[in-house]
Amino acid sequence: MSERVALVTGANKGIGLEIARQLASEGSTVWLGARDSGRGEAAAAELRRAGLDAKFVPLDVTDADSIGAAARQIEADSGRLDVLVNNAGIFVDDAPPSGLSLDRLRQTYETNVFGPVAVTQAMLPLLRKSTAARVVNVSSGLGSLTQNSDPGYEYAAAKLLAYNSSKAALNAVTIQFAHELRDTPIKVNAADPGYVATDLNGNQGTRTVQQGARIAIQLASLPGDGPSGGFFNEDGPLPW
Ligand SMILES: NC(=O)c1ccc[n+]([C@@H]2O[C@H](COP(=O)([O-])OP(=O)(O)OC[C@H]3O[C@@H](n4cnc5c(N)ncnc54)[C@H](OP(=O)(O)O)[C@@H]3O)[C@@H](O)[C@H]2O)c1
Repeated sequence: MSERVALVTGANKGIGLEIARQLASEGSTVWLGARDSGRGEAAAAELRRAGLDAKFVPLDVTDADSIGAAARQIEADSGRLDVLVNNAGIFVDDAPPSGLSLDRLRQTYETNVFGPVAVTQAMLPLLRKSTAARVVNVSSGLGSLTQNSDPGYEYAAAKLLAYNSSKAALNAVTIQFAHELRDTPIKVNAADPGYVATDLNGNQGTRTVQQGARIAIQLASLPGDGPSGGFFNEDGPLPW
């Protein structure tokens, strides 16, 4: 097979765009999924101007029709998928747990949990055509129940009902898919990029997108004897 074919969701900016840039820099053909065509096209054009093989595909991870159309477009153009990075995510908590609306909770789960599930299900036929497919779910250290319940955790004050529980659920989703696919070449892992300066946090994060993208790139490039069903940052395994 030629170079790898990758899809990154939410790739028009932030960590997703940087993951797409790094995958393409390593020689992959990268599909940049974005829900807004203008923003997605602009991001793909930026990478192409740098000489990279980047293509835009319309993809709203909360919209089943959009997901299906994206799968058909990638199938028609590329025929398979070697890397899927479920990166699209939102942070919309605007109140403590006692006051958070169920609408915000549902909205968060639609994007951060049901989105990656639906995209993974839709892309699995293409991932099965790869000899060594890798699925990376972009989670968060805030999704670690062990860390989040530790009063000494660096971000213990961040008790975000929707965001944190959605990432804990995404970690659980990662384990379920990894188990089902354990006898295939497909590996499914969750990545914690750390606290990265992006629009998600008003650019308050202490790490760069280059640093934040690193663990996703590592998990996208795992060797055949690498782990599946794990949760990692660039220093190694994280506690669930
Ligand atoms: N920044 C951090 O410190 C940090 C830490 C841990 C984990 N993460 C995770 O890293 C991932 C990327 O976040 P980021 O920090 O790079 O944030 P960001 O700059 O806000 O980027 C989020 C991306 O997700 C896209 N998106 C949101 N809803 C979508 C939908 N329904 N369909 C398709 N795309 C959608 C956004 O598109 P639009 O431009 O159209 O809104 C944007 O491209 C998220 O999963 C986030 O939870 C971030």
